Amino acid sequence: MLVLGIESTCDETACAIVKDGKTILSNIVSSQIDLHNEFGGVVPELACRRHVDVMIPVIDAAIKEANVSIEDIDLFAVAHGPGLIGALLIGLHAAKGLALALNKPFIGVNHVEAHLYAALMSNQEEVVFPCLGVVLSGGHTALVLMHSNDQCTLISQTVDDAIGEAFDKVAKLLGLPYPGGPEIEKLARQGNPLKYPFKSGNVKGRPLDFSFSGLKTSVLYSIQGQNCRDQPISLPYNDLCDVAASFQYVAVNDIIKKTIAAANQYHCNSIVFGGGVTNNQYLRDRFSEKAGHLKQFWPTLGLSLDNAAMIAGLGYHIYSRKQVGDMLDLEAMTRIPFASG
Ligand code: KG4
Ligand code: ZN
Repeated sequence: MLVLGIESTCDETACAIVKDGKTILSNIVSSQIDLHNEFGGVVPELACRRHVDVMIPVIDAAIKEANVSIEDIDLFAVAHGPGLIGALLIGLHAAKGLALALNKPFIGVNHVEAHLYAALMSNQEEVVFPCLGVVLSGGHTALVLMHSNDQCTLISQTVDDAIGEAFDKVAKLLGLPYPGGPEIEKLARQGNPLKYPFKSGNVKGRPLDFSFSGLKTSVLYSIQGQNCRDQPISLPYNDLCDVAASFQYVAVNDIIKKTIAAANQYHCNSIVFGGGVTNNQYLRDRFSEKAGHLKQFWPTLGLSLDNAAMIAGLGYHIYSRKQVGDMLDLEAMTRIPFASG
């Protein structure tokens, strides 16, 4: 079965063609980093306009690279949430239009669940369900119990900032470009992770939940003092590296500690990782060190950031289970809650 997937939830316009949920025939991503960099974050209105401009060329490129014809596509899958409303609408309408014109089924996919499926697509070995899913992206941080490729229940999540958002905000404080995650990782390689004793956030009565906004504020206070203003500060290079390393050390340890606790509590022997922050090599190395007893499924670097291959791949499984596509009145959803565990 050939599935064409479309992704436009935030600042990447992407289209991919995937065979039977796993074989990637093409995976085109048009990034908007250049557009948003000067504003230090994603500007929704600009993101939407860029999606409109590049959506059709990106779809054309995916079809060309896969060396198929649009008539060969059996199913159109699209990320219909969560994300920016205007951005979502562009991808959703493109998928609906294609499905309608070609008289083929279309299916809406949860972008966050697709991030987890990206790790399963990336590995030849099959995971044993139920397993623990760890979502570490710019918009979400959550632990979920995965019952199958496309069904999971929420165990815990962040009560404030997502982990990627925390990386981006700390990077902004340090005057680094957007997106800040990779910049922090780069600086941290040369820094002392024990220089600043930052504290990770805990949520009273909910030991598996995350909180990163306090960590960000403690970084701010320690570099600018209590009466600081929320704007970039210029530090000597060595200090920048130490702040980045200390922040990353605390954030990563917090995620590892809660992930291992959840794996024990829910009797999971395998962990599936998803989201852009899984690009972080320090995070991967620390997990192998501290959770070597658990089988780990990581996305390849090409599938960890936003992409449409994961949307097409998960779309295949949803459609195979339901045996029917979604109605054409499916709506874009800025938030899609996980089913509560
Ligand atoms: O999953 P993603 O592409 O988009 C969302 O669905 O949110 O994740 C983007 C996030 C950004 O916050 C970015 O800073 C972060 O992933 N990120 C990283 C790294 N590469 C990307 N964070 C830490 N270390 C990295 N190497
Ligand atoms: Zn994402």
